[in-house]
Amino acid sequence: MKEKSHELRCTGCGARIAGTDATSNFRCAQCGELYEVVYPWSSDGANLPNAGALRWLWQERRSSTLPIDQSGVWRFRDLLPILDDPSHAVTLREGNTPLYELPRCGKIAGVDWLLAKHQGMNPTGSFKDTGMTAALSVAAERGFKVVACASTGNTSAAMAAYAARAGLTSIVFIPEGKIAWGKLSQSMDYGALTIQLKSDFDGCVRVLNDLVKRLPIYMLNSVNPYRLEGQKTPALEMVEQMDWQVPEHVIVPGGNLANSSALGKGFEEMKRLGLISRVPKISVIQAHGANPLYRAMQASGGEQLEPVVADTRATAIRIGNPASWKKAVRIIRATGGWVEEVSEQEIAQAKAEIGAEGIGCEPASAVTLAGLKKLTRDGRIGREERVVLLLTGHTLKDPEYTIDFHRGTLFSNQEASSLRKPPIVLEAQTEAVLKTLESSIQL
Ligand code: F0G
Repeated sequence: MKEKSHELRCTGCGARIAGTDATSNFRCAQCGELYEVVYPWSSDGANLPNAGALRWLWQERRSSTLPIDQSGVWRFRDLLPILDDPSHAVTLREGNTPLYELPRCGKIAGVDWLLAKHQGMNPTGSFKDTGMTAALSVAAERGFKVVACASTGNTSAAMAAYAARAGLTSIVFIPEGKIAWGKLSQSMDYGALTIQLKSDFDGCVRVLNDLVKRLPIYMLNSVNPYRLEGQKTPALEMVEQMDWQVPEHVIVPGGNLANSSALGKGFEEMKRLGLISRVPKISVIQAHGANPLYRAMQASGGEQLEPVVADTRATAIRIGNPASWKKAVRIIRATGGWVEEVSEQEIAQAKAEIGAEGIGCEPASAVTLAGLKKLTRDGRIGREERVVLLLTGHTLKDPEYTIDFHRGTLFSNQEASSLRKPPIVLEAQTEAVLKTLESSIQL
């Protein structure tokens, strides 16, 4: 009999089940909590893969022309053996994202060494691709014909693209009028059935949860534990890019709160295998208007979470009732990280600062820099700590936000920021242009 490559373990009661036995909403039938994927080596020291051999293998695969080797997720497939046959992977060559230095943002935030892992440089422009290649490949291998997700826009874009590659039908549920145009256009472009519900993200989740109980639809929200197996690989890639050094701190935006624990799983597994000697602190930053985790930490140290009605122009993280909050609390506590909230103005300013370094990101990603500034200001992060910001989405996802910021129409009380670069309209006459140049820039 073929040895089981993995199981699902309930994060609440610890019950273990075969991957194929999960209920359609990925909740434990005993206690209702979420699952995580575990491998024979997760608890058994005898089955530990060899760290040196893995490093060598992952490096070797970089020069291969095989699609799964060219994927920045499946290149690490030894740590995510979730498919019966890895050649079934549905890949757009996701991952392989750059790790950029942000010297000017570092200076502003008060740290000597600031890096950005830009997950917006994925095929559909967000970090969701790394998780989607994993979970959608599982869906395809198990013979599902229809996949669906509720989304603030990026998950739906990723799902639609990967479903199209695999020839599956995809259904997207998004809150009407509350996602960025770039994202909405993607799900249509990739041929998804796009349903805009007159509700918010949390309402979309509720409807989808009902539907999957009645129809043979495979759910690809981040409660699906296979998503997180893909989303843990940026942790591996980051450390590899740093020559197997570990940063002191990794900062991520918090929405539905799955990504923080996915990265944490990646770091914890690397430590277990001896690839690294310690795990960085993982901190989560929320927008003030969508801050249920921040409130939960303040009120009860993360014991209980009260859903909120969410509102922020960082629409990706406009979520009031995050599904994976307990997983996030666990990893934040285990690593000694923090939870912070930032205002709309702080997000806009930070986004412009990242843009001014030639990097750019979507508003939700910029909460990381805004949060870092708060954490350094009161000494929770020291100047000498090496910090990596997880930039989760590409700047072109939400150009309307960027234009509104530069035109000064983002908020009614938008402060004059020196970073604002509104477009200048002139007659097509050289003298007029010269005059403007002389008063605008140093020549
Ligand atoms: N950043 C971006 C750009 C996102 O799209 C999301 C989530 C997050 C951060 C938060 O990550 O949910 O793991 O805490 N977007 C989801 C979506 C909800 O539907 O695209 P999280």
